[in-house]
Amino acid sequence: MKDNSRRQFIKNTIAATAAVTVGTSLIDSSTAFAGVEAFKFTQVTLPFKYADLEPNIDALTNEIHYTKHHTAYIKNVNDAIVAENIPYTSEKQFFDNASKLSAKARNNAGGAWNHNFFWESLRAPGGAGPQGKLLDAINSSFGSIDKLKEQFNDAATKRFGSGWAWLVADGNKLKIGSTANQDNPLFDNAELKGTPLLGLDVWEHAYYLKYQNRRPEYIANFWNVVNWDKVASRLS
Ligand SMILES: [Fe+2]
Repeated sequence: MKDNSRRQFIKNTIAATAAVTVGTSLIDSSTAFAGVEAFKFTQVTLPFKYADLEPNIDALTNEIHYTKHHTAYIKNVNDAIVAENIPYTSEKQFFDNASKLSAKARNNAGGAWNHNFFWESLRAPGGAGPQGKLLDAINSSFGSIDKLKEQFNDAATKRFGSGWAWLVADGNKLKIGSTANQDNPLFDNAELKGTPLLGLDVWEHAYYLKYQNRRPEYIANFWNVVNWDKVASRLS
Protein backbone atom coordinates (compact mmCIF):
# COMPACT_ATOMS: atom_id res chain seq x y z
CA MET A 1 0.00 0.00 0.00
CA LYS A 2 1.38 3.38 -1.01
CA ASP A 3 1.66 6.09 1.67
CA ASN A 4 -1.28 8.08 0.26
CA SER A 5 -3.50 5.01 0.11
CA ARG A 6 -2.46 3.96 3.61
CA ARG A 7 -3.32 7.44 4.95
CA GLN A 8 -6.73 7.28 3.21
CA PHE A 9 -7.35 3.76 4.57
CA ILE A 10 -6.58 4.88 8.15
CA LYS A 11 -8.79 7.97 7.69
CA ASN A 12 -11.70 5.80 6.45
CA THR A 13 -11.24 3.33 9.31
CA ILE A 14 -11.31 6.14 11.90
CA ALA A 15 -14.42 7.64 10.28
CA ALA A 16 -16.17 4.27 10.20
CA THR A 17 -15.33 3.59 13.87
CA ALA A 18 -16.66 7.03 14.84
CA ALA A 19 -19.90 6.36 12.95
CA VAL A 20 -20.41 3.06 14.78
CA THR A 21 -19.72 4.76 18.12
CA VAL A 22 -22.17 7.57 17.38
CA GLY A 23 -24.75 5.02 16.22
CA THR A 24 -24.39 2.98 19.40
CA SER A 25 -24.63 5.98 21.64
CA LEU A 26 -27.78 7.17 19.85
CA ILE A 27 -29.42 3.78 20.32
CA ASP A 28 -28.42 3.72 23.99
CA SER A 29 -29.80 7.17 24.67
CA SER A 30 -33.11 6.24 23.00
CA THR A 31 -33.84 3.83 25.89
CA ALA A 32 -33.73 6.83 28.17
CA PHE A 33 -35.98 8.70 25.69
CA ALA A 34 -34.63 12.22 26.15
CA GLY A 35 -33.81 11.72 29.78
CA VAL A 36 -37.05 9.92 30.70
CA GLU A 37 -36.59 6.32 31.81
CA ALA A 38 -38.19 3.73 29.50
CA PHE A 39 -41.29 2.18 31.05
CA LYS A 40 -40.76 -0.99 33.09
CA PHE A 41 -43.49 -3.35 34.23
CA THR A 42 -43.72 -4.24 37.93
CA GLN A 43 -45.68 -6.96 39.68
CA VAL A 44 -48.34 -5.88 42.18
CA THR A 45 -48.23 -7.24 45.70
CA LEU A 46 -50.94 -9.88 45.93
CA PRO A 47 -53.86 -8.20 47.79
CA PHE A 48 -54.83 -11.48 49.52
CA LYS A 49 -53.18 -14.65 50.81
CA TYR A 50 -52.96 -17.62 48.45
CA ALA A 51 -55.60 -19.56 50.42
CA ASP A 52 -58.03 -16.65 50.81
CA LEU A 53 -59.99 -17.47 47.66
CA GLU A 54 -60.65 -21.11 48.66
CA PRO A 55 -62.62 -23.09 47.70
CA ASN A 56 -63.25 -21.05 44.54
CA ILE A 57 -59.62 -20.73 43.47
CA ASP A 58 -57.23 -23.00 45.35
CA ALA A 59 -54.08 -21.85 47.15
CA LEU A 60 -51.63 -23.87 45.06
CA THR A 61 -53.04 -22.53 41.79
CA ASN A 62 -52.77 -18.97 43.12
CA GLU A 63 -49.20 -19.53 44.29
CA ILE A 64 -47.97 -21.06 41.02
CA HIS A 65 -49.93 -18.56 38.96
CA TYR A 66 -48.49 -15.57 40.82
CA THR A 67 -44.91 -16.70 41.52
CA LYS A 68 -44.22 -18.60 38.28
CA HIS A 69 -46.48 -17.54 35.42
CA HIS A 70 -46.95 -13.89 36.30
CA THR A 71 -43.36 -13.37 37.41
CA ALA A 72 -42.18 -14.79 34.09
CA TYR A 73 -44.32 -12.34 32.09
CA ILE A 74 -42.87 -9.43 34.07
CA LYS A 75 -39.28 -10.59 33.58
CA ASN A 76 -39.77 -11.37 29.89
CA VAL A 77 -41.36 -8.06 28.96
CA ASN A 78 -38.67 -6.12 30.81
CA ASP A 79 -35.98 -8.19 29.08
CA ALA A 80 -37.64 -7.37 25.74
CA ILE A 81 -37.74 -3.65 26.57
CA VAL A 82 -33.98 -3.67 27.10
CA ALA A 83 -33.08 -6.03 24.24
CA GLU A 84 -35.27 -4.24 21.70
CA ASN A 85 -34.69 -0.70 22.99
CA ILE A 86 -38.43 -0.12 23.32
CA PRO A 87 -38.66 3.60 24.07
CA TYR A 88 -42.21 3.90 25.46
CA THR A 89 -42.45 5.76 28.74
CA SER A 90 -45.91 4.76 29.92
CA GLU A 91 -48.17 1.77 30.01
CA LYS A 92 -50.65 3.65 27.80
CA GLN A 93 -48.02 4.38 25.17
CA PHE A 94 -47.00 0.73 25.27
CA PHE A 95 -50.50 -0.59 24.58
CA ASP A 96 -51.38 2.18 22.09
CA ASN A 97 -48.53 0.73 20.02
CA ALA A 98 -49.17 -2.96 20.76
CA SER A 99 -49.53 -3.85 17.07
CA LYS A 100 -45.99 -2.58 16.39
CA LEU A 101 -44.34 -4.64 19.13
CA SER A 102 -42.53 -7.96 18.68
CA ALA A 103 -44.51 -11.05 19.71
CA LYS A 104 -42.32 -11.39 22.82
CA ALA A 105 -42.87 -7.80 23.93
CA ARG A 106 -46.59 -7.78 23.14
CA ASN A 107 -47.49 -11.14 24.71
CA ASN A 108 -45.46 -10.59 27.87
CA ALA A 109 -46.61 -6.97 28.30
CA GLY A 110 -50.19 -8.21 28.13
CA GLY A 111 -49.40 -11.03 30.55
CA ALA A 112 -47.75 -8.62 32.98
CA TRP A 113 -50.59 -6.09 32.95
CA ASN A 114 -53.53 -8.53 32.74
CA HIS A 115 -52.42 -10.47 35.81
CA ASN A 116 -51.88 -7.32 37.89
CA PHE A 117 -55.40 -6.32 36.91
CA PHE A 118 -56.75 -9.80 37.69
CA TRP A 119 -55.24 -10.05 41.20
CA GLU A 120 -56.59 -6.64 42.10
CA SER A 121 -60.08 -7.70 40.96
CA LEU A 122 -60.28 -10.51 43.52
CA ARG A 123 -60.94 -10.80 47.26
CA ALA A 124 -62.03 -13.41 49.77
CA PRO A 125 -65.61 -14.65 49.32
CA GLY A 126 -68.43 -12.91 51.16
CA GLY A 127 -68.06 -9.28 50.09
CA ALA A 128 -70.79 -7.00 48.76
CA GLY A 129 -72.10 -7.12 45.21
CA PRO A 130 -72.13 -4.18 42.78
CA GLN A 131 -73.80 -1.03 44.08
CA GLY A 132 -74.57 2.61 43.23
CA LYS A 133 -73.33 3.96 39.91
CA LEU A 134 -71.84 0.60 38.86
CA LEU A 135 -75.10 -1.23 39.52
CA ASP A 136 -77.00 1.45 37.56
CA ALA A 137 -74.61 1.04 34.62
CA ILE A 138 -74.99 -2.77 34.78
CA ASN A 139 -78.78 -2.53 34.86
CA SER A 140 -78.96 -0.07 31.97
CA SER A 141 -76.47 -2.03 29.80
CA PHE A 142 -77.55 -5.62 30.52
CA GLY A 143 -80.87 -5.47 32.37
CA SER A 144 -79.54 -7.10 35.55
CA ILE A 145 -76.41 -8.49 37.20
CA ASP A 146 -77.60 -12.00 36.31
CA LYS A 147 -77.77 -11.05 32.64
CA LEU A 148 -74.25 -9.59 32.85
CA LYS A 149 -72.98 -12.86 34.35
CA GLU A 150 -74.76 -14.88 31.67
CA GLN A 151 -73.07 -12.92 28.87
CA PHE A 152 -69.70 -12.90 30.60
CA ASN A 153 -69.84 -16.66 31.29
CA ASP A 154 -70.68 -17.25 27.66
CA ALA A 155 -67.73 -15.14 26.44
CA ALA A 156 -65.35 -16.85 28.90
CA THR A 157 -66.56 -20.36 28.06
CA LYS A 158 -66.48 -19.88 24.30
CA ARG A 159 -63.03 -18.25 24.10
CA PHE A 160 -61.24 -20.97 22.14
CA GLY A 161 -57.88 -21.90 23.65
CA SER A 162 -56.16 -19.38 25.92
CA GLY A 163 -57.38 -15.88 26.58
CA TRP A 164 -59.38 -13.53 28.76
CA ALA A 165 -63.03 -12.53 29.22
CA TRP A 166 -63.67 -8.84 29.93
CA LEU A 167 -66.22 -6.38 31.17
CA VAL A 168 -65.34 -2.97 29.74
CA ALA A 169 -66.75 0.54 29.72
CA ASP A 170 -67.20 2.21 26.35
CA GLY A 171 -68.51 5.70 27.03
CA ASN A 172 -71.70 5.28 29.08
CA LYS A 173 -72.18 1.72 27.92
CA LEU A 174 -70.72 -1.45 29.45
CA LYS A 175 -69.72 -4.25 27.09
CA ILE A 176 -68.58 -7.86 27.39
CA GLY A 177 -66.24 -9.83 25.17
CA SER A 178 -62.99 -11.74 25.13
CA THR A 179 -59.46 -11.50 23.77
CA ALA A 180 -57.02 -14.21 22.69
CA ASN A 181 -53.75 -15.09 24.42
CA GLN A 182 -52.56 -12.13 26.53
CA ASP A 183 -54.21 -9.38 24.48
CA ASN A 184 -56.36 -6.91 26.38
CA PRO A 185 -58.91 -4.17 25.53
CA LEU A 186 -56.23 -1.45 25.76
CA PHE A 187 -54.31 -2.84 22.76
CA ASP A 188 -54.63 -0.69 19.63
CA ASN A 189 -55.61 -3.80 17.66
CA ALA A 190 -57.74 -5.58 20.29
CA GLU A 191 -60.81 -7.62 19.31
CA LEU A 192 -62.66 -5.85 22.14
CA LYS A 193 -61.86 -2.22 22.97
CA GLY A 194 -62.79 -0.17 26.03
CA THR A 195 -61.77 0.66 29.58
CA PRO A 196 -61.29 -2.64 31.40
CA LEU A 197 -63.44 -3.01 34.54
CA LEU A 198 -63.11 -6.75 35.17
CA GLY A 199 -61.08 -9.51 33.54
CA LEU A 200 -61.03 -13.28 33.92
CA ASP A 201 -58.04 -15.41 33.01
CA VAL A 202 -59.26 -18.50 31.15
CA TRP A 203 -55.83 -19.95 30.40
CA GLU A 204 -55.71 -23.55 31.67
CA HIS A 205 -52.93 -22.58 34.12
CA ALA A 206 -55.56 -20.47 35.95
CA TYR A 207 -57.82 -23.42 36.83
CA TYR A 208 -56.56 -26.80 35.67
CA LEU A 209 -55.13 -28.05 39.00
CA LYS A 210 -58.53 -27.82 40.66
CA TYR A 211 -61.02 -27.93 37.82
CA GLN A 212 -59.17 -29.85 35.07
CA ASN A 213 -61.37 -29.55 31.96
CA ARG A 214 -64.32 -28.00 33.83
CA ARG A 215 -63.78 -24.39 32.77
CA PRO A 216 -67.49 -23.45 33.23
CA GLU A 217 -67.31 -24.47 36.92
CA TYR A 218 -64.24 -22.27 37.45
CA ILE A 219 -66.03 -19.37 35.74
CA ALA A 220 -69.17 -19.85 37.87
CA ASN A 221 -67.13 -19.85 41.12
CA PHE A 222 -65.09 -16.80 40.04
CA TRP A 223 -68.14 -14.63 40.81
CA ASN A 224 -67.81 -15.53 44.51
CA VAL A 225 -64.43 -13.75 44.72
CA VAL A 226 -64.94 -10.64 42.57
CA ASN A 227 -64.00 -7.43 44.36
CA TRP A 228 -66.89 -5.25 43.19
CA ASP A 229 -65.57 -2.19 45.04
CA LYS A 230 -62.45 -2.41 42.89
CA VAL A 231 -64.50 -2.87 39.73
CA ALA A 232 -66.55 0.23 40.67
CA SER A 233 -63.38 2.27 41.22
CA ARG A 234 -62.40 1.65 37.57
CA LEU A 235 -65.64 3.17 36.31
CA SER A 236 -64.84 6.86 35.93
FE1 LIG B 1 -52.67 -16.49 33.95
